[in-house]
Amino acid sequence: MEFSAKLPKFLKNASYNNPEDKENSPWKFTTGNDLAYFDWVFQPGNEYQAQAFHNHMEFKTLSKKLHETVPVEEILGNSTNEDIVLLVDVGGNTGLDTVRFHQAWSKLPGKRIVQDLPATIDTLDRDQLKPIEVMGHNFFTEQPVKGAGAYYLKMVLHDWPDKQAKEILSNLEAAL
Ligand SMILES: C[S@@+](CC[C@H](N)C(=O)[O-])C[C@H]1O[C@@H](n2cnc3c(N)ncnc32)[C@H](O)[C@@H]1O
Repeated sequence: MEFSAKLPKFLKNASYNNPEDKENSPWKFTTGNDLAYFDWVFQPGNEYQAQAFHNHMEFKTLSKKLHETVPVEEILGNSTNEDIVLLVDVGGNTGLDTVRFHQAWSKLPGKRIVQDLPATIDTLDRDQLKPIEVMGHNFFTEQPVKGAGAYYLKMVLHDWPDKQAKEILSNLEAAL
């Protein structure tokens, strides 16, 4: 409510231009927080909000999946090598999409890796997710997994101004 009430002022101050900087965002302006949203939500003391965020992601993930909408075998089915990385789910939250991907395409060889901020990854049950691997990684830094079959970004780029979205993509381009 507060957000909606203050948003017009933020937009007017910005001359109705698209926000370009995560440090000068509607979120910060309307909430009065010093931290950008993802820096704030995983701070100690905000566990309730972090869990609400994860629940929201799970709910939003109930619709059609990547593996139901693209020709997976055509794109990723060329290798018989178990040692390759088949898929990296970048900003993959709790890994729900990758679990579903794996259930649908368990016959394809290669590792499946879910990456997200350590604050999220550290809450996951690694044994329960096996053979899917999880990895704490900040996508504004160098991508450590090189040459994967696919880097999957779902509902990630829309969270950021173009400048930061390009940084995320540049780090993946370098790894491709
Ligand atoms: C909108 S959610 C999308 C989650 C998942 N891809 C899905 O579709 O359900 C964005 C995700 O990006 C993660 N994230 C935010 N900042 C990040 C960063 N700097 N590095 C890695 N992940 C980040 C969040 O923790 C969150 O899980």
